[in-house]
Amino acid sequence: MTNSFADHLQTLGRRGALLLGIALLSAPALTAADDDGFVWNRAMLDIIESGDVERGRQIAEDKRCSKCHGDLGIPEDDETPSIAGQVAAYQFKQLVDYKAKVRDARSMYKVARRLELQDFADLAAYFATLEPEPPEGKTAPPLLVTQGDTDRLLLPCNVCHGEQGEGMGLQVPALSGQKIDHFIETMVAYRDGERANDDFGRMRFIASQLSEEEITTLAAYYAAAPVPGDE
Ligand code: HEC
Ligand code: HEC
Repeated sequence: MTNSFADHLQTLGRRGALLLGIALLSAPALTAADDDGFVWNRAMLDIIESGDVERGRQIAEDKRCSKCHGDLGIPEDDETPSIAGQVAAYQFKQLVDYKAKVRDARSMYKVARRLELQDFADLAAYFATLEPEPPEGKTAPPLLVTQGDTDRLLLPCNVCHGEQGEGMGLQVPALSGQKIDHFIETMVAYRDGERANDDFGRMRFIASQLSEEEITTLAAYYAAAPVPGDE
């Protein structure tokens, strides 16, 4: 893992860091954490860090992740998320949340329910090593990415997701190269509260402030794809 825990705390900000501190202090022993959803604690971070790339590759082959996510983590369709080069700790958390049904998706529940925390760490480590889709033909970023909108209390996306949309720290996913339809669907799911596993409700709040047009423009920017309807 390249990003340090300190980066992560910086990303969370002071309030988040305080809450995380409380979570670390009050977290129970790790056992059965995967049945109750994800908790940020030392034991969980140790498992994430122990992720074994080679074992992850094997599990991915056995479980046929490629059937939906493509041979190298980049799906052929635009609805399934790209997982190539994704931040490992973020992916790990999503897999735990799918198994606990904290993030609800039938397809991924069926995959995750028979896997254990160590398998998730290995898978996340493996997919993090793959190359994301190159952002060819990338256009100038929309203002929401670089400046946000103070009237709506919106921080710029790139404060958290990185200057190039490469993700940050442990929690914040890369957006660059993300599939356009998955991006739109998942933002709408945050907005409507159907995806509700984001800590502190950060993405639910952000998505609730955006119009559908803004969501589509942001999705097209990060996917380096034409805005649908403009082609
Ligand atoms: C049957 C198709 C299918 C298979 C097989 C599958 N996935 Fe998925 N995966 C999906 C879909 C669809 C989503 C988006 C679900 C949602 O909206 O939450 C997803 C989401 C994910 C996410 C979250 C991505 C993000 O950006 O938040 C991760 C991580 C992931 N899958 C990893 C895996 C791994 C690892 C395997 C193999 C062990 C796997 N998937 C197998 C269809 C599949
Ligand atoms: C305060 C930090 C922060 C800001 C600002 C922020 N995000 Fe996020 N974003 C996150 C975190 C943390 C997650 C992961 C949440 C989770 O676990 O579901 C996330 C997840 C996402 C996802 C889901 C990615 C996937 O692979 O499924 C999308 C899409 C997204 N953000 C888009 C945006 C856009 C567009 C903006 C700007 C309008 C933005 N975010 C601003 C922190 C932020």
